[in-house]
Amino acid sequence: MEYCMEDWPEPIINVQSIAESGATIVPYRYIKPSSHRPEILKSTPQQQNIPVINLAALEGDEHACNATMHEISVACKEWGFFQIVNHGVRPELMERTRQVWRDFFHLPMEEKIKYANTPKTYEGYGSRLGIEKGAILDWGDYFFLNFLPLSLKNHNKWPCLPETLRETVEECGGEVVKLCEKVMKMVSKSLGLEEEYMKRVFGGYSDEGVGVTMRANYYPRCPQPELTLGLSPHSDPGGVTVLLADERVQGLQVHKDGAWVTVQPLPHAFIVNLGDQIQMVSNAIYKSNEHRVMVNSEEERISIAFFYNPRGDMLIGLSPQLGRHFVSP
Ligand code: OGA
Ligand code: NI
Repeated sequence: MEYCMEDWPEPIINVQSIAESGATIVPYRYIKPSSHRPEILKSTPQQQNIPVINLAALEGDEHACNATMHEISVACKEWGFFQIVNHGVRPELMERTRQVWRDFFHLPMEEKIKYANTPKTYEGYGSRLGIEKGAILDWGDYFFLNFLPLSLKNHNKWPCLPETLRETVEECGGEVVKLCEKVMKMVSKSLGLEEEYMKRVFGGYSDEGVGVTMRANYYPRCPQPELTLGLSPHSDPGGVTVLLADERVQGLQVHKDGAWVTVQPLPHAFIVNLGDQIQMVSNAIYKSNEHRVMVNSEEERISIAFFYNPRGDMLIGLSPQLGRHFVSP
């Protein structure tokens, strides 16, 4: 289905409708230049995975706690990515959240485009980022919404179907915000800063508080996955991203030592990555790492990303404690 909306440079085409039309080739608008295409290696299982952090250890004795802090510090320096297990969010809620979004993307297109977005705020149902005319596009659709501050949260902009979506997203989002605050504390402490440092410099103690947005990503099956990407390489611009990934279908890849490492999600885990603001505050001791998404011809994939960001008008700078003073030559 193709439709026009003001503000976009050209008509919008949902990737899902291309996939469901039975296309056997990828339209040229989605074909990446050859140097950007993924290498799809099925035969050689990879050795590396992103680090796994067991949050239960933080409740343990001092020794276990220090060991975990050290693991977090290594993960943030070397990868900027890790998975967390025993994080306290119920697996049942995680599964329900994935399912309501899966059900949403399976609704008829007429229902979804009621929420069609524009590049003014990107809120709603969309298929592209950026307004460059003729740009090469990614193989995915998404739904973007605001969760915090409360002044930007508007349930009427969230899908009203499936019927349980709003309450489920509300519940899961609330849990994930608590988890983000835990992660922000761990990040602060492991850098040698006081526990509340990141939350404070993000504006978390002001009246408005931090910003939290959510993006549900839907990557349809793709007839020629070797030619395109679900999401082009990028680092996340904000603070911390908590990703609820598809447990059955892989796709996320993280850049490490010049190669792309495919993330293998553990059952009931969240994938956490640091964004550009943490890299900035930490004097690049901690990394906001590049990542991308591969698609495949067999199965669609869904992921739900929560972005924990500084308040919109917050000026973010290097922590004086972590800054070095250079003497100019
Ligand atoms: C993102 C992102 C990864 C994924 O939404 O910023 O990197 O697996 N998503 O969908
Ligand atoms: Ni990302």
